[in-house]
Amino acid sequence: MAMPLTLRRSRALPATTRDDAVISLRGVSKWFGSNVILKDVTFDVPRGKITAILGPSGTGKSVLLKNIIGLLHPDEGEVLVDGEAIGSMSERDLFRVRRKFGVLFQDGALFGSMTLYENIAFPLREHTRTGERDIRAIVHRNAELVGLVDHLGKLPGEVSGGMKKRAGLARAMVLDPEIVLFDEPDSGLDPVRVAYLDELVVTAQRETGATFFIIPHNIPSVMRTADHLGLLFRSRLIRFGPKDAMCASDDPVIRQFLSGTTEGPIGMDEMADGGDGTRPAAGRDTTTLDRSGSAPFLTGGTTSRS
Ligand SMILES: Nc1ncnc2c1ncn2[C@@H]1O[C@H](COP(=O)(O)OP(=O)(O)OP(=O)(O)O)[C@@H](O)[C@H]1O
Ligand SMILES: [Mg+2]
Repeated sequence: MAMPLTLRRSRALPATTRDDAVISLRGVSKWFGSNVILKDVTFDVPRGKITAILGPSGTGKSVLLKNIIGLLHPDEGEVLVDGEAIGSMSERDLFRVRRKFGVLFQDGALFGSMTLYENIAFPLREHTRTGERDIRAIVHRNAELVGLVDHLGKLPGEVSGGMKKRAGLARAMVLDPEIVLFDEPDSGLDPVRVAYLDELVVTAQRETGATFFIIPHNIPSVMRTADHLGLLFRSRLIRFGPKDAMCASDDPVIRQFLSGTTEGPIGMDEMADGGDGTRPAAGRDTTTLDRSGSAPFLTGGTTSRS
């Protein structure tokens, strides 16, 4: 029997491990040809919290996220998930680790010919042997969480941008992942819909206890959702820490970015902001995404719901 969502998803951790790292980056550098995208990036993503990574456009946030799930591989350094270095893993172990993730990619789209119901059910059908009755119950619980129960019969083309995002969120969470990664879930939405989506993200995180790793599109969203922040600029992680400490920082890049002004080191030229040097090596790019915005193995969770 499928357990009730709230029970199944509650992951109350002992106090001693509540703040431990679920994802650790150790000296991660990534370059494409002569273009240095990430340089010596080190930080720990605290378990069971919402972490946001910020940075100017083109600075490498999506590349960072793809390194975390092993769609791209660092040229130097390593990524650890639950203490396991994913770079040196066998395919089988990588598959096991990737099952911990639910992902909503920046360019992730719903299947246009499938109803919202079928879109949300898709990972369950693909990766589990869950029976129709349980699929129905799980899809409805997730749809309830994102306020889409009355729209499950609609096609993506028949609903608003905000509803599509919410359906993407429900799909990313349907396999009960331990870690949820969102790349700009708020892009293309008006400020009020963004505020609702943010509330949803916070509620979903609190209810599931999962670790949320978000690349937000705007500062109000950061303030509403994030527990911890990191800021990327010119390939480097300027700083990573609790939101309050980041907001109180004197660092001119952090101050400028969080206040969204033109006064400071961040200029108008994205190319100049994006990188800071050259490297003579070629990066490995193994990115292959399906139209759901997630490779099938990325949705994580358990094999059986029944
Ligand atoms: N597969 C790839 N091959 C070569 N270059 C790439 C690849 N993926 C990303 N890049 C380059 O890496 C840089 C960082 O890209 P990325 O998409 O991570 O930026 P971003 O911070 O997510 O930007 P945005 O805020 O606009 O989404 C860009 O210059 C981009 O062109
Ligand atoms: Mg991006």
